[in-house]
Amino acid sequence: MTTLTYKQKPLPLKPHETVLDCLLRHGVALPYACKAGMCQACLVKAVGCTASEESRKWIKPALQARGYTLACQWVSDTDISAELPELADFAVASTIASLRQLNAQVLQVILEIADPRSMFAYRPGQYLTATNPLGVARAYSIANDFAVDGFVELHIAATSHGEFTRWLFGMAKVGDQLYLRGPTGNCFYDVRDDGDQPLLLAGTGTGLAPLLGIVSDALRQKHAQVIHLYHGGRSVDQLYLTDELQELARANPHFHYHPCVMEADSKTPLTLQTGRLEQVLVQDMAKAKLATYRIYLCGAPAFVHGLRKKLYLQGARSEHIHCDPFTERTVVAD
Ligand SMILES: Cc1cc2nc3c(=O)[nH]c(=O)nc-3n(C[C@H](O)[C@H](O)[C@H](O)COP(=O)(O)OP(=O)(O)OC[C@H]3O[C@@H](n4cnc5c(N)ncnc54)[C@H](O)[C@@H]3O)c2cc1C
Ligand code: FES
Repeated sequence: MTTLTYKQKPLPLKPHETVLDCLLRHGVALPYACKAGMCQACLVKAVGCTASEESRKWIKPALQARGYTLACQWVSDTDISAELPELADFAVASTIASLRQLNAQVLQVILEIADPRSMFAYRPGQYLTATNPLGVARAYSIANDFAVDGFVELHIAATSHGEFTRWLFGMAKVGDQLYLRGPTGNCFYDVRDDGDQPLLLAGTGTGLAPLLGIVSDALRQKHAQVIHLYHGGRSVDQLYLTDELQELARANPHFHYHPCVMEADSKTPLTLQTGRLEQVLVQDMAKAKLATYRIYLCGAPAFVHGLRKKLYLQGARSEHIHCDPFTERTVVAD
């Protein structure tokens, strides 16, 4: 029988079972979110053994060298040993500087970094993993550039029974501490690759957070080609930052903001497009040379994967489509 030693105790590891599932099965409260190798919430340290390549491949070399690996991707058929990570080893301490309701469902969270020199370098649009005072860790996209603003901005949507969001919407207050790890993700503006291409960005809900980061970065870097930003919601109440984005479009004639809702009512402003975001966008872009576009898609996984396929079939090049599906936690059956 293969064993996983945790706190000097050998735990039986089932065939093909991940280290995360084994620890959870034995009552260890290891943080995790996606179980898909994306959020990096489930970091553990291999002790006296080497974790599988699969579980290490997304970890930065400096952390790999200290034994860090992803528990949700680590499967072993030999005896292994693991311990929980020390947050202070690799996480950046931040405090909540402000909480602002962007709409009824979404909070803007502004984080102050205790020691700005400790902040990791990232590109707006990438994501970080935030651990709250209860030890719950989740991935959130970064909507701004710390190097420019001196703070970190996140947009976080409420969920019905979510652990992190229940804390954020019910208990969190200015001054609370969050530990940040990162960055991860390939959704960001790179002037060397994107500089001479038109940009198309589309997202639903808080998928706007990384897209806003990318658009602001592109405009700051004087991106000269056309930029189209589509943001969708069921109704007007689900959109946010509409005034700010309209203002940005007025100030930058080559930036086009397309807010889109599924249901319009008598109060819906005429400038909104109506229908499913995917359909509206595909129709708008019917005559565009999509092969020339750099495309960014963020938000609900079904939306991201569905639109990616549609745009590819309409001529977009797959290597020019960058996606960040906000994979939700896999709910484990008790
Ligand atoms: C790359 C990436 C970037 C992301 N960026 C953002 C972002 O910028 N903004 C943002 O708001 N989110 C973002 N997310 C999603 C975020 O990481 C969290 O998944 C989200 O905030 C929910 O976390 P939670 O702890 O509140 O919910 P969880 O506790 O993880 O629960 C997730 C969902 O499962 C449901 N659930 C929980 N337990 C049960 C149960 N027992 N039975 C049935 N249902 C259950 C909850 O209602 C909830 O809807 C991102 C995710 C990824 C992977
Ligand atoms: S990377 Fe392991 S739970 Fe998300």
